[in-house]
Amino acid sequence: MDLSVNNVFRQAILGATQNRAVRGLVDRHGMRLGAARFVAGETVDEVLEVLRALDRRGFKTNTTLLGEAIHDATTIQEVVDTYVEVIDRIAAEQLRTNVSVKLTQLGLDISEDEAYRNTAHIAEHAERHGQFVRIDMEESTRVNATLAIYRRLLAEGHANTGTVLQAYLYRTRNDLRGLLPLEPNLRLVKGAYLEPPAVAYQRKRDVNINYVKLLRKSLSEGGYTAVATHDDRVIDHVINFTAKHGIGTERFEFQMLYGIRQKLQEELLLSGYPVLVATPFGPEWYYYLMRRMAERPANLLFVARQAFSR
Ligand code: FDA
Repeated sequence: MDLSVNNVFRQAILGATQNRAVRGLVDRHGMRLGAARFVAGETVDEVLEVLRALDRRGFKTNTTLLGEAIHDATTIQEVVDTYVEVIDRIAAEQLRTNVSVKLTQLGLDISEDEAYRNTAHIAEHAERHGQFVRIDMEESTRVNATLAIYRRLLAEGHANTGTVLQAYLYRTRNDLRGLLPLEPNLRLVKGAYLEPPAVAYQRKRDVNINYVKLLRKSLSEGGYTAVATHDDRVIDHVINFTAKHGIGTERFEFQMLYGIRQKLQEELLLSGYPVLVATPFGPEWYYYLMRRMAERPANLLFVARQAFSR
């Protein structure tokens, strides 16, 4: 059944995210009560410590300075400066890490040009150190601009960039088809935002079916596919599909989020698959934490247990 408890729960949590009282409560107590399980600290020093430890264990990583929908130029410049610093520090320690950015943090709400300039600046800096830059995908209203910026980056020679496509959107099938001739580096995900039926599948089952179709298409063509999921069944499917079609690990990797299904991350790594752990940091962790809670009722219970055990 798709109008399941989980689906109702997901919509309720994502709906409550904009509520000021909820935000106040979570902002005050969230880090102490469990956000630290999903967020690798608030500062560059703290995240570097986690990235170093993951690197030593054989994981690839990416990192994101949390925060979205920034409208003022000074804060946007601080975000750009932080990414430049992170890139330098990754390079100095030769970590297998890249940065993953959100365009609404880099000026998309001011203009597409502003977001392009800032992203291109970060991509150029990363390029000098032989690093890659991923552009996360945000709400459906941002998809056109995100894909336009990604295409422009490629056209301007920033081949060290990639983006994300979300399986819950009906449009993604066409977006993928349009991008494949460019041999893109794509992270495929199910999708984390609250989207209306006009643009997105509402039933988990439909999202899962579309996700597998998109993965098969992407893996079968040129380019690089990051399979970003914690879903065993999808992961098993990709393992069988790539083995059957002779698709090697130079063409794909698994990606999971920091703090989620660590045992599965280890097992895949031990089986010889590249595994990237997406490891976010920063003081603006509120929306990120709420999306992780919406994905799984157990996460809310985890936070509640922390609260009552004090
Ligand atoms: P699904 O939600 O079906 O979960 C499958 C199983 O995984 C669950 O049964 C549970 O065991 C485990 N699981 C999943 N989520 C969990 C959680 N929060 N806590 C504990 N266990 C959990 N989205 C987006 O819109 N834009 C983006 O740019 C990205 N970027 C991104 C990067 C990476 C590396 C990952 C892994 C994910 C994203 N996402 C994202 C999020 C993505 O869209 C999706 O919301 C989550 O990955 C959860 O979906 P799953 O594919 O894991 O499956």
